[in-house]
Amino acid sequence: MNANETVPPAGPGAARVTGIGSVTGEVRGAGGRPADGGLAGKRALVTGGAGGLGAATARALAAQGAYVIVADRDGAGAAAVAAEVGGEAWEVDLLDTAALETLKLDVDILVNNAGIQSISPIEDFDPAAFRRILTIMLEAPFLLIRAALPHMYEQNYGRIINMSSIHGLRASSFKSAYVAAKHGLEGLSKVTAREGGGHGVTSNCVNPGYVRTPLVEGQVADQARTHGIPEEQVVAEVMLANSAIKRLIEPEEIAALVAWLASDQAAMVTGSSYVMDGGWTA
Ligand SMILES: NC(=O)c1ccc[n+]([C@@H]2O[C@H](COP(=O)([O-])OP(=O)(O)OC[C@H]3O[C@@H](n4cnc5c(N)ncnc54)[C@H](O)[C@@H]3O)[C@@H](O)[C@H]2O)c1
Repeated sequence: MNANETVPPAGPGAARVTGIGSVTGEVRGAGGRPADGGLAGKRALVTGGAGGLGAATARALAAQGAYVIVADRDGAGAAAVAAEVGGEAWEVDLLDTAALETLKLDVDILVNNAGIQSISPIEDFDPAAFRRILTIMLEAPFLLIRAALPHMYEQNYGRIINMSSIHGLRASSFKSAYVAAKHGLEGLSKVTAREGGGHGVTSNCVNPGYVRTPLVEGQVADQARTHGIPEEQVVAEVMLANSAIKRLIEPEEIAALVAWLASDQAAMVTGSSYVMDGGWTA
């Protein structure tokens, strides 16, 4: 679905896009069934939901009964995940910030997850690549939070979960844009927590170490080129050098933490950053 289109309801229990730049609709569980888990009756939007951590998060939220909108620039990938979880796809390029400025989001749970990576020393860093990373990973989350808060405030309930990183808390060489964007996202999340606290809205960051996803597989290849060493050596000696537990995190492990932050049990958790990194930052 395109946020600027008006499309008819896809069927019973399906969410609808109504009006220019508005995502709104009926609340039902995954697959149009009455929802039966801890997130029954909740509508969730997961950006970057076509793959990696986003897809795992979409599955985890749907397993708890949420109706999930899978947002991604990869429309086919989003549609496949949406079909699997009984939700809907929203094909959107988060670089198109003008379209996001007029958006109104009718969701209970917003997971800002989409992200990209580019690795280079600062003096060689392509300014356009720097801007792209800041746009997708900081400006777009701001615009989506801005679009979601009015509905959340109206119903006095909302969960905003921002997929940060250990790089939201620590720096690594050659990742100036990524580290800057994630540190910015941490600040945005805390301000959202402050403003949302009186309106039943929580906002938190999740801070994974290295997770087994396509993004990390790309980084392994990049770092192998940068350091001139084999990919296996990058994982063991570069990525996990500081890790107490020497294995990559599985996407489902992070998704379970996101699902908990979305639950009623986490109502008093806000403005926090939850690290899952196998001891990397210890
Ligand atoms: N994988 C890790 O080790 C790891 C660690 C810490 C944090 N993270 C964070 O988790 C998030 C997800 O990472 P991942 O590893 O699953 O990555 P991934 O590359 O597997 O998935 C990212 C998704 O975002 C989508 N996307 C990228 N640019 C987009 C755009 N302009 N508009 C819409 N969608 C876009 C991609 O199509 C893709 O489906 C990112 O924010 C990343 O920084 C990942």
